Amino acid sequence: MSDPVFLITGASSGIGAATARAAAQAGYRLVLAARSTDKLQALADELGGPDRALPVSCDVTEWEAQEAMVAQALERFGRLDVAFANAGFGGGRSFLAGEPEQLRDMVLTNVYGAGLTVRAALPALRQSQGHLLLTGSVAGHRVLPGSMYSVTKWAVGAMAEAARQELNGSGVRVTLISPGQVDTPFFDQQRSDGRLRAGDVAGAVLYAISQPPHVDVNEILLRPTAQDG
Ligand SMILES: NC(=O)c1ccc[n+]([C@@H]2O[C@H](COP(=O)([O-])OP(=O)(O)OC[C@H]3O[C@@H](n4cnc5c(N)ncnc54)[C@H](OP(=O)(O)O)[C@@H]3O)[C@@H](O)[C@H]2O)c1
Repeated sequence: MSDPVFLITGASSGIGAATARAAAQAGYRLVLAARSTDKLQALADELGGPDRALPVSCDVTEWEAQEAMVAQALERFGRLDVAFANAGFGGGRSFLAGEPEQLRDMVLTNVYGAGLTVRAALPALRQSQGHLLLTGSVAGHRVLPGSMYSVTKWAVGAMAEAARQELNGSGVRVTLISPGQVDTPFFDQQRSDGRLRAGDVAGAVLYAISQPPHVDVNEILLRPTAQDG
């Protein structure tokens, strides 16, 4: 049997890129999606080139791009075993911060974009009895003051459970990955002290997908040991 195939949105950076590296190490072939095609190409080269990794330019807020992403994955590799709806970004903690357009972009990327990834990947995942993962957040468990980001991650948590219920009995498993603070370009200022590393989150993803078929790890909530709140 050919090696299983793992698709990641937001693969150009942070948690997505770290998960791609860990999955490649575990023997998966990769479909790497984001808007920064130069970074995706460099990562695809690092992970073994065209036979092992396919870089796909995809803005997750565009349905046609997401449809094409899955079509390219199936054309290149013939199957899809894991889809990780991970693309997203954060923002300020006030409804008065930034421009109104930023709130729109955040909802479109973090919620609508994740929903489109679920929609695009679902038929192929049903066929493979595969695994769907979404990146939530601790901010999707607590309500943060003035945070539209927190609102979007509550929605992603609901999306994971809605998908789990729709897929119940299909053999497809669904996991919500909910990290606390992770040291990635998500933050304007990077610092390694007191935050998780992207590889720690990748480890949680790999744990979820390596369980036996009758075990569905529905959520992994992980914080740095010293995180407040
Ligand atoms: N870092 C944290 O503390 C933390 C904690 C909890 C949850 N999260 C969540 O983890 C996920 C990954 O974030 P990260 O920490 O790894 O940050 P990151 O390093 O900034 O990565 C974000 C990724 O999302 C992609 N992305 C953003 N908008 C996109 C769009 N419209 N279409 C396609 N891709 C898009 C970016 O790629 P391009 O710009 O190349 O498109 C990038 O690959 C996000 O959902 C974030 O909310 C992060």
